[in-house]
Amino acid sequence: GSCLESVKIAIDTGYRHIDGAFVYYNEHEVGQAIREKIAEGKIKREDIFYCGKLWNTCHPPELVRPTLEKTLKILQLDYVDLYIIELPMAFKPGDAIYPKDENGKIIYHETDLCATWEAMEACKDAGLAKSIGVSNFNRRQLEMILNKPGLKYKPVSNQVECHPYFTQPKLLEFCRQHDIVIVGYSPLGTSRDETWVNVSSPPLLKDPVLNAIGKKYNKTAAQVALRFSIQRGVVVIPKSFNPQRIKENFQIFDFSLTEKEMKEIEALNKNVRYVELLM
Ligand code: A2P
Repeated sequence: GSCLESVKIAIDTGYRHIDGAFVYYNEHEVGQAIREKIAEGKIKREDIFYCGKLWNTCHPPELVRPTLEKTLKILQLDYVDLYIIELPMAFKPGDAIYPKDENGKIIYHETDLCATWEAMEACKDAGLAKSIGVSNFNRRQLEMILNKPGLKYKPVSNQVECHPYFTQPKLLEFCRQHDIVIVGYSPLGTSRDETWVNVSSPPLLKDPVLNAIGKKYNKTAAQVALRFSIQRGVVVIPKSFNPQRIKENFQIFDFSLTEKEMKEIEALNKNVRYVELLM
């Protein structure tokens, strides 16, 4: 229920880009929030930009469209604005989201990512996804798609971890050259949940530089971190269940960082991921 409420507050606040996934198990709540706001007359469907994700167990090409159709059914929407391959590695298809062998090791699956991509292209052609993209792809994996013979649509975006402690300068430049938008996840440095976050990397929002710059503008470290990303052309998808912080994270369009401040923040890069995706 908290997701339903948070998405409604976010839409009222002005957010239009909603980042979702089947594996977040809350697409029914997100869909309900969007539909309620449409019914209220607050927004139209075309105002919303919903991103859905193809999970690792669904990479075989014949599973791609049915998987997207399942997401649409849960959302009760006709299309997603963006559908992305969540991770470049495939897991064994089946009901288990994390299929494991008797030793607790993930069971991977051999699928040609290019074949998966062709099935994504077919989803766009069928109008089920307005745009298609990828996530957690490195340069080589992107090149595999970009150099695929007969490529019909390029990935429009690559969603990767990106924030002042992990600025991704090389990938950002590569994507810029190829007109691929970087969508930065964990733009605030994650929730620091030890089950999936490398907490040996220090908390981003405690950073003295971000806090000092924030003081100058009467902004928080979170607002400075978000502003930094959008100012360098990185789309941000901050997550909050807290109404006050949902609003705070939207108040980043009434100030701008100087070139010197941007450089200072860029220099914070530690090249260390919070989200190591060890599987
Ligand atoms: P909460 O949901 O209680 O607000 P990320 O977007 O990098 O994944 O970070 C999400 C985490 O950051 C969540 O734990 C969220 O907690 C917290 N968070 C979101 N916005 C802010 C903010 N403005 N200041 C401090 N923490 C925030």
